[in-house]
Amino acid sequence: MASNAGVAQSRALPGPVRFITSSIGAKVVMAVSGFVLVGFVLVHMIGNLQIFLGPEAINRYGNFLQGLGELLWVFRLGLLAALIAHVASAARLVILNQSARPINYSHNDYVQVKFAARTMPISGIVVLAFIIFHLAHFTGGKVQPELFHFQDELGQHDIYAMVTLGFQNWFISGFYIVANALLALHLSHGVSSMFQTLGVTAPAWRPLTHALGPVIGTIIFIGNVGIPLACSLGLVAIPAGAM
Ligand code: HEM
Repeated sequence: MASNAGVAQSRALPGPVRFITSSIGAKVVMAVSGFVLVGFVLVHMIGNLQIFLGPEAINRYGNFLQGLGELLWVFRLGLLAALIAHVASAARLVILNQSARPINYSHNDYVQVKFAARTMPISGIVVLAFIIFHLAHFTGGKVQPELFHFQDELGQHDIYAMVTLGFQNWFISGFYIVANALLALHLSHGVSSMFQTLGVTAPAWRPLTHALGPVIGTIIFIGNVGIPLACSLGLVAIPAGAM
């Protein structure tokens, strides 16, 4: 039960702050930021799949993105804001749920809730850890620095060599596989519940919104797990002379 002091305190907050810190407000923030993030993940996956087309395609794509200059920074800051909003609203919902339910249930009804829904906090935390690792790895060049400075014949950053050689390390590849499998699980519940929060609840739409989460989760699983797996198994050619 919320205390009277807590209620009075929350009433003193400005309207928009009161809304985003309320249970429904936090859910809306989570859904809108999740929408931005899942859009990025899909576009990023399509870009990354060019690894299967060879060095020219993926290096051209990566270097085109780097060439966007200030626009790239606008995009990066937008993405960071969406990530912070998503994590903060998740934390807010956990706090609100705990204060609304201070006593543990004597029996748990976990089995009724789908596995993906039950594991949202843990899959979310692993994905967050993955994002930090991934940025240090392929964007910062801090994890395998020896692979970060390769250049292709055109003098561009050789993303193809960095990725294919990076995934020859089974620990790194394994972490990408596990984290992206958990990301797929996270999305398979998150995308469907996002539509519900945003009010797409009409019975006619329900089969579509229920299916969309698992469909997007499966696409991300195949695409994002497929890349490190294919590289580790030697299904993607290693650049000549690099090994
Ligand atoms: C197998 C899966 C993935 C592969 C192979 C991959 C590959 C890459 C590569 C090569 C870059 C550097 C691009 C460059 O230097 O221009 C990059 C950047 C990035 N990746 Fe991934 N990625 C994967 C999954 C993910 C996932 C699941 C997320 C987020 C949930 C993510 C978020 C990012 C971000 C935010 C950047 C920085 C983009 C920028 O330069 O601003 N990646 N990724």
